[in-house]
Amino acid sequence: MICIPFNRPYVVGKELSYVAQAQANGHLAGDGPFTRQCHLWLERHAGGGKALLTHSCTAALEMAAILAGIEPGDEIIVPSYTFVSTANAFVLRGAVPVFVDIRADSLNLDERLIEAAVTPRTRAVVPVHYAGVGCEMDTILEIAQRFSLLVIEDAAQGIMSTYRGRPLGSFGHLGAFSFHETKNIVSGEGGALLINDRTLAARAEIIREKGTNRSQFFRGQVDKYTWVDVGSSFLPGEMVAAYLAAQLEHADTITSSRLGLWDRYHAAFEALEKEGRLRRPIVAEGCKHNAHMYYLLLADLQERTAFIEHMREREVQCVFHYVPLHSSPHGRRVGRASGATPVTDDVTDRLVRLPLWVGLEAHLDRVIETALQFFRTRG
Ligand SMILES: Cc1ncc(COP(=O)(O)O)c(C=O)c1O
Repeated sequence: MICIPFNRPYVVGKELSYVAQAQANGHLAGDGPFTRQCHLWLERHAGGGKALLTHSCTAALEMAAILAGIEPGDEIIVPSYTFVSTANAFVLRGAVPVFVDIRADSLNLDERLIEAAVTPRTRAVVPVHYAGVGCEMDTILEIAQRFSLLVIEDAAQGIMSTYRGRPLGSFGHLGAFSFHETKNIVSGEGGALLINDRTLAARAEIIREKGTNRSQFFRGQVDKYTWVDVGSSFLPGEMVAAYLAAQLEHADTITSSRLGLWDRYHAAFEALEKEGRLRRPIVAEGCKHNAHMYYLLLADLQERTAFIEHMREREVQCVFHYVPLHSSPHGRRVGRASGATPVTDDVTDRLVRLPLWVGLEAHLDRVIETALQFFRTRG
């Protein structure tokens, strides 16, 4: 019996020949032809903002925090139920993360709680599109506009998903994507920042290039390049971009394969949901998701622990998600919760993610049958 991992990065086939091509081009640093190819793809498929590849979504969020002009003591509104980088990127600039609860249906930032979290120090809202399902962007944008807040989308999981027909990552002033090996489209480590507010675009290039105007120099817009702002080295080399370029060419087929797996899971657990034994993911009308994740909400922590153990004993790896940030050791030191977080506190104990990767098709029946067996044995 082969062990079924939680994740296995999909290889489209052309990655290594593109990497060899990058080597043959003699341009291994960043911003060569493959980086440009990825930028063009993102600008065409992710909503038209200016795209800049980064080392990771974490790096893209760190760039966003600098671009947003975050200063010590400024506040940002984030869900507590998220990956650490959503908050940490801003904490690095001295911001105070104000943690808000999530919606019980999508597990996304609860937009109805944002207004109560706003103070005179609030600078930005950072919605996270959990599992690649869009947040309620209409309401979030309306509130942000009313209070003059920046919106920075953490679309780490959201490539190829849409909300009311528009790609995730294209709604906020800035949007951040991840191409980490656990995501749908991968380059090992990797990410991108989408700059939808064009007034931030020139500075974004500078911040990404160590605070220099090097990009302008290479376009012939200045006759020498120099230190003009703060910044860091946020750009990946061409070998990473080459790997990513090969993957992006297959974004449609990867997404439809994942959706096929997701739909099979969803059908398989329908009866158990009707019996009240578990809850399946909810995708709101108007959201087209990318099947980034299939999760189940079980009865309680004890049942989830038993489920993961049952699957592990039968060589199927299932994992839980997010320890809430508001109650994490560092989250408690640097941030605070706005109001109670009952949904976050509940979901963190009950959510389990099932394997979902292109190539799982041949093993999916076994995963499903092993999971169903767990519920049968518990009566
Ligand atoms: C919601 C969210 N934000 C940010 C990140 C960080 O992405 P990266 O690993 O590319 O830095 C992740 C990674 O899992 C994530 O899920």
